[in-house]
Amino acid sequence: MALPNNDIGDETRRVLSAQAHIWNHIFNYINSMSLKCAIQLEIPDIIHSHGRPMNLSDLVEALPINNNNKAKTHDCVYRLMRILIHAGFFIHEAEEGYLLTPTSRLLLKDEPMSMIPFLQFELDPNLMDPWHSLNKWFDNISDDSNSTPYATAHGKPFFKYAGNEPRLNHSFNEAMASDARLVMTVLIQNGKGLLFEGLKSLVDVGGGTGTVAKAIADAFPQINCTVFDLPHVIEGLEGSKNLSFVGGDMFNSIPCADAILLKWVLHNWSNEDCIKILKKCKEAIPSKENGGRVIVIEIVMDQNKDDKSYETQLFMDMLMMVEVSGKERSEQEWAKLFVDAGFSDYNIISILGLRSVIEVYP
Ligand SMILES: C[S@@+](CC[C@H](N)C(=O)[O-])C[C@H]1O[C@@H](n2cnc3c(N)ncnc32)[C@H](O)[C@@H]1O
Repeated sequence: MALPNNDIGDETRRVLSAQAHIWNHIFNYINSMSLKCAIQLEIPDIIHSHGRPMNLSDLVEALPINNNNKAKTHDCVYRLMRILIHAGFFIHEAEEGYLLTPTSRLLLKDEPMSMIPFLQFELDPNLMDPWHSLNKWFDNISDDSNSTPYATAHGKPFFKYAGNEPRLNHSFNEAMASDARLVMTVLIQNGKGLLFEGLKSLVDVGGGTGTVAKAIADAFPQINCTVFDLPHVIEGLEGSKNLSFVGGDMFNSIPCADAILLKWVLHNWSNEDCIKILKKCKEAIPSKENGGRVIVIEIVMDQNKDDKSYETQLFMDMLMMVEVSGKERSEQEWAKLFVDAGFSDYNIISILGLRSVIEVYP
């Protein structure tokens, strides 16, 4: 006799739904790893170069792999593509083939705003290892900003480790530069270059290899831009007429300018360290009346954001806890930092999706 279909009670339904929820969490990494594999196999670029919808056989033929078991490869590529279609990276039109979506267009190698370097860095085993040490770190938690899950896994905090590991240093700098290209394109395309108008000088503190400062220097030839970062980051980089590179430690002193830019720097640090950095910034700029300001580009945590955006902000916050000793902050937390560092006022401009621009006045 066949069992009636929905012959289960509410309690059983709750257990089964909890099981599905837990499975989804356990297997979340499969989304990340499948995407990483697609990038390693250059699938977005292959479909893009094809110039029209690409069928499975053509895709398999074009992959940079030893295709010595065609039948099995065919089946496995089909399954890899199926999960990535479900995740919104590709579409498949019946009888036609695979196509890119706006999301996978940001994963093309030659796309100016390509996010490939960011993906490659964050999914590098060196950055994944600390997650396996998270519970060990909790066991020995301390106020020391050098004590992070990353340091528990690798013996040194991230910035010190990267300073001695050229491959990791390069991958990190490329990841940051790719994000900087996207942010500057969005700012400049939307007329938000106004943020920099009227300035004669600007220092991009923790400015990495200078992508942001270069974009500002090109768009505003009257602004003298300085990239200030750790010596190993700026080593060998050449400036131009209105762009220079200075190596140093922002905890010691920061070159003077009308404005200081801090993009994705403060979220790497504890409140105490942020106050030290912000005080050094304040020493380096003129008064508010004379146009002095600090321009911060960071997440402002907001529980009222839609569910997905808030989840992404929570991911970033955990990332900052594990990789460095930083955090993502709410508006109240930002306001407190600015007051504690001696600033008088701030203005939040929400123009970067998950992140905001915060102008902070002395
Ligand atoms: C998350 S990255 C942001 C890079 C860049 N602002 C961007 O958004 O593309 C943080 C930067 O801070 C730099 N940094 C870390 N410690 C520093 C210090 N003590 N002095 C100056 N820069 C530092 C790092 O080398 C890195 O380039």
